Amino acid sequence: MLSPTELDTWQRDGFLMLPGFKSAAEVAAVCRRACDIVAAFKPGVNNSRFSTRDRSQVTDAALLASAEAVHCFFEEEALDAEGRLLVPKDRSINKIGHALHDRDAVFDAFSHGPALAELARELGLLQPQVWQSQVIFKQPHIGGEVGWHQDASFFVTTPQTVTTFWFALEDATLDNGCLWVMPGGHRGENGANGVLREQYCCDHGAGTLRMQALDTTPWPTMAEAVPLPVAAGTLVVFHGLLPHCSAPNRSANSRLAYTLHVTDASAAYAAENWLQRSAGFPVRGLA
Ligand code: FE2
Repeated sequence: MLSPTELDTWQRDGFLMLPGFKSAAEVAAVCRRACDIVAAFKPGVNNSRFSTRDRSQVTDAALLASAEAVHCFFEEEALDAEGRLLVPKDRSINKIGHALHDRDAVFDAFSHGPALAELARELGLLQPQVWQSQVIFKQPHIGGEVGWHQDASFFVTTPQTVTTFWFALEDATLDNGCLWVMPGGHRGENGANGVLREQYCCDHGAGTLRMQALDTTPWPTMAEAVPLPVAAGTLVVFHGLLPHCSAPNRSANSRLAYTLHVTDASAAYAAENWLQRSAGFPVRGLA
């Protein structure tokens, strides 16, 4: 149960760090499973990279197909111009997404349970819906930069409800590309929600994606940002409007993390959101 101080921090800063939320055994189980998924993954001729700096590198079809599947995306720097691997396969993956929490028994167990359901309730998610799960590898030496963004851009709801659950599966440090956030950046004046700067829109008929600017409020400077180095097992929860980023990883250590993106079913989920579920594969809660 969150303390009054933690709830105040959540309201004021837009994020909360909960060390030891997951046990070493729970973390080890999903790390092992992630390695097994990568080992079983067969790179094809149309290897899909993932880069937040240049979203055109992700083929729209590969991303859309992963909404209800478990798919491996390569690091931008893991492939040459012809799409051939430049590093060993087990060091080449940027992330696995986006339905691990529903498609894989090990990740399903990690992503659900009374502790998460209780936490979501305390944060105001009364009818949580888990849309997306990702293992983010941040590989040694080639782990890509993730520029300033707000996760609400990818999960627009009215009102805004998306909340990110970011689990450190390995120690996240300044060297290997820990999260940076702008404390309080989720708020506007008078305690109201801040602005959403851009929206990732999908034309589901055409199968195309684009980032659309919504507001000209500048992104924070690094002087306004704080780093969040955390130990493995820590859960960082943050508000969908909180600006955050992470540096490239040029260190010799990976920085594995697992994320869940959760909205509230009482809010309207935008038809333009890229991630939609078919009728036969409904979105579930956290319990
Ligand atoms: Fe994010």
